Amino acid sequence: MSDLHTQMPQFPEPYWRDLDLPIYNKLIEDTQVDVAIVGGGITGITTGYLLAKEGVKVALIEAGRILNGTTGHTTAKITAQHGLIYDELISHFGEEKAKLYYEASEDALQFIRSTIQTNKIECDFSDQDAIIYAESDQYASKVQNEADAYQKLGINGSVIDSIPFDIAIKTGLTMHKQAQFHPLKYLRELVKLFIEAGGTVYENTTAVDIEDGPNPKVLLRSGKKISCNHLVAASHYPFCDKKGLFFARMYVERAYILGLKTKKAFPGGMYISADTPTRSLRSTPIDGEDLVLVSGEGHKTGQGIDTMKHYRNLESFAEEVLGIQEYMYRWSAQDIYTLDKVPYIGPITDEQQKVLIATGYRKWGMTNGTAAAILLKDYIMNKENKYKELFTTSRFHSDPEIKKFISVNADVAKHLIKGKLEFVPKEPGELENDEGAVVMVDGQRAGAYKDHDGQLHLVDTTCTHLGCEVEWNHGERTWDCPCHGSRYSYDGEVFNGPATKPLKKLDM
Ligand SMILES: Cc1cc2nc3c(=O)[nH]c(=O)nc-3n(C[C@H](O)[C@H](O)[C@H](O)COP(=O)(O)OP(=O)(O)OC[C@H]3O[C@@H](n4cnc5c(N)ncnc54)[C@H](O)[C@@H]3O)c2cc1C
Ligand code: FES
Repeated sequence: MSDLHTQMPQFPEPYWRDLDLPIYNKLIEDTQVDVAIVGGGITGITTGYLLAKEGVKVALIEAGRILNGTTGHTTAKITAQHGLIYDELISHFGEEKAKLYYEASEDALQFIRSTIQTNKIECDFSDQDAIIYAESDQYASKVQNEADAYQKLGINGSVIDSIPFDIAIKTGLTMHKQAQFHPLKYLRELVKLFIEAGGTVYENTTAVDIEDGPNPKVLLRSGKKISCNHLVAASHYPFCDKKGLFFARMYVERAYILGLKTKKAFPGGMYISADTPTRSLRSTPIDGEDLVLVSGEGHKTGQGIDTMKHYRNLESFAEEVLGIQEYMYRWSAQDIYTLDKVPYIGPITDEQQKVLIATGYRKWGMTNGTAAAILLKDYIMNKENKYKELFTTSRFHSDPEIKKFISVNADVAKHLIKGKLEFVPKEPGELENDEGAVVMVDGQRAGAYKDHDGQLHLVDTTCTHLGCEVEWNHGERTWDCPCHGSRYSYDGEVFNGPATKPLKKLDM
């Protein structure tokens, strides 16, 4: 295993980003549009595409480069099989809403399928079965309950007793005729169509706040403003809370992906374990061969301790199941969970109907993000949509949520306090090249990273969102916040919100 480990790529790079993407200008002057969309991932781009097609004047702004958020780091299975969910949805929301959830995902899959066909988009799209399997008795009974839920909801699925790998499963459940694709090849074309229909994309343009009024204004870090009739926060984590208390009712989980050429041929299909830690498998074509994507090892952001350990665990699994021939890629990413597992899509609060959000996809954003875009378009065009109530952001008071609400916030409070009190005795001078750690400088806690050339980068470890202490993630060379998942580069620039301001740089 140690031999293999030395072959693992040193720096994380997602396979999907190995693609030519145009560069778009920064927004440099105050602007007025019908709809401003913040965030260039699957949600923002699909919403922009749909609205521009209707003749709406849309500006899409992106803090960095488009398609470099979670959408650029996904596994890109397009499926309504969102792990084990339907049995739980039936007991929490009832059969009718559980079925609606399924239909929203199936509609999204059909939307992607037909958009690809109509526009002849080359994006390695293929039909695949989605399979969830259990290795333990405990999870076998959960899979069985899920199979019962499929029956009740009329989902096209079947129970299986083996999968084509050396994994002894107790049982499994297939959802038929799902799909997979190359998400960036697909979305690159949607951006093109968006621009052809009159839409504008601005990169390196960060939204920091919203000014209320009859027409909301997006305030940018540059000091400029966008006035609009509707604002869509498709920024993954809403970049502005507007008293919606989203930071208290959502949490963020990271997961890890290896892109490998394997000794054994990949048999087709998309697999996920029901047992934890999660193991997920799919393949994607690369130069006439298969690149196998092995993913899993989810944990709350900033709480992964040794992040390289997660890659090594995936490596052991891949070696056992398929044999590793060559390492091609490794990367990791994070997604947002709501407390009841259903995304929030719609007006940010009952009082503010012109600001819309879409978030909380629980690692199923290819379908959830697409479903969100269709729903957001209908909100803005004032059209009926049967999914409005299911995804409403005001469904806050149901009891299972409240219990977890308390525990999520207890967890945040624990990190706020622990981070502040922790004493880390390392001195910056003790760091090796390419090592990061929390250190003490003049009696103060600071985040230090010594780069490959021996240059030291010091930052204030206080997260600029709500003040938790960030922690070093060696796997990605980033500072990660355990409270709501903000992530910063080693010298403090924001990689992932909700934070919008960089960590303060410190001098030695
Ligand atoms: C490891 C992993 C595997 C996954 N696998 C799957 C899968 O197989 N199938 C599936 O359906 N889903 C999967 N998902 C989930 C899916 O990838 C995400 O849910 C989805 O990509 C989220 O899309 P988004 O548009 O909401 O966010 P993003 O793609 O993150 O886009 C949001 C954008 O907003 C920008 N932004 C943020 N703040 C601001 C600001 N203040 N101003 C301007 N711009 C801003 C960001 O830079 C970013 O580009 C996976 C997720 C992970 C983490
Ligand atoms: S992300 Fe909220 S405090 Fe850091």
